[in-house]
Amino acid sequence: MSLFEVYPLFDITPVKAKDVFVFDENNTKYLDLYGGHAVISIGHSHPEYVKGITEQLSVLGFYSNSIQNPLQVELAEKLGNLSGCEDYKLFLCNSGAEANENALKLASFHTNKKKVLAFKNAFHGRTSAAVAVTDNPKIISPLNAQQEVEFIELGDLDAVENALSQHDVCAVIIEVIQGIGGLVEVVSGFYQDLQKLCKRYDTILIADEIQCGFGRTGDFFAFQKHNITPDIISMAKGMGNGFPIGGILIHPKIKASFGLLGTTFGGNHLACVASLIVLDVIEKEDLMQNAKEISTYFKEKAQSISKIKTIKGRGLMLGLEFDFPIAELRQTLISKHHIFTGNSKNPNLLRILPPLTIQTEHIDLFFDALQQEL
Ligand SMILES: Cc1ncc(COP(=O)(O)O)c(C=O)c1O
Repeated sequence: MSLFEVYPLFDITPVKAKDVFVFDENNTKYLDLYGGHAVISIGHSHPEYVKGITEQLSVLGFYSNSIQNPLQVELAEKLGNLSGCEDYKLFLCNSGAEANENALKLASFHTNKKKVLAFKNAFHGRTSAAVAVTDNPKIISPLNAQQEVEFIELGDLDAVENALSQHDVCAVIIEVIQGIGGLVEVVSGFYQDLQKLCKRYDTILIADEIQCGFGRTGDFFAFQKHNITPDIISMAKGMGNGFPIGGILIHPKIKASFGLLGTTFGGNHLACVASLIVLDVIEKEDLMQNAKEISTYFKEKAQSISKIKTIKGRGLMLGLEFDFPIAELRQTLISKHHIFTGNSKNPNLLRILPPLTIQTEHIDLFFDALQQEL
């Protein structure tokens, strides 16, 4: 059997990794400024992570959601404390798309409506409703296209109000910082007015924090900078440092009932331990503060390079925009300098999504390499 080839691959085979470095089969060392697509939060193979998951596996790896699982309760408490979202309820699943799928479904149950407003240039995942609210016709199959979705220009409140005033919209879903779209964020007033409109028209506001959440921006959630309280918050990526786990935080006004949502694997023992350790390490190693400090250092260095047109993003969700397509530069950074970076829908934008443990010396390595190539 061979693989169903859907991924264009770099010719690199990582076999081990440690903190911000990845090693291939020839022991070549790569600096990871991509974090496996914003997934690695506390660093590769963090000793506490390895220890905690190994210990859990040796006693109980999995049982279904039909028994008591104190680890889920512990995760909800710890997540509430660290994020400041204590009032919300937690539902666990396995990936980002699944988190958004559950968020949208819950919004529809709660409001008894079915249309969704989403924003142009956003990405929310590849499953049924999640892909339907993603602004990329190439990945929406005819089956997915059955959903009722309207795409609105980010920042256009009049268009939002026009749509909401028809009283048929169950949810507005928004990536607070668009990741794959190229690090796009608008002013706080927009997010605040969006929330007011959602309240006025009995519509659920879903903040997709799958990429920008879990400490990546230096705040626990990116929406916190804008002083809003979304009705549902979706999470994944950095939540498990590579162990598959996703989840939604649900405002208490949305009530649970048995059977409303469900999953076989979601919230399993190993996934809970992985996420608990991520939270512990974020707290103990002060990684949100590190994200802020390294971000400032990175931006200062970037400002001194004239070929960089714009510096985008915040915390350790960053983008450097050039006035030329970055594909070749990205390839050179990998093959010649052994540095992983990311790309986006914006062909001129180099994306930087390192583990939150990164230090200034690693940023220096990157800028030295960049200077040589510009
Ligand atoms: C903002 C955002 N939402 C949702 C997803 C989908 O997550 P997953 O690939 O875990 O299904 C992604 C993945 O890149 C994302 O960046």
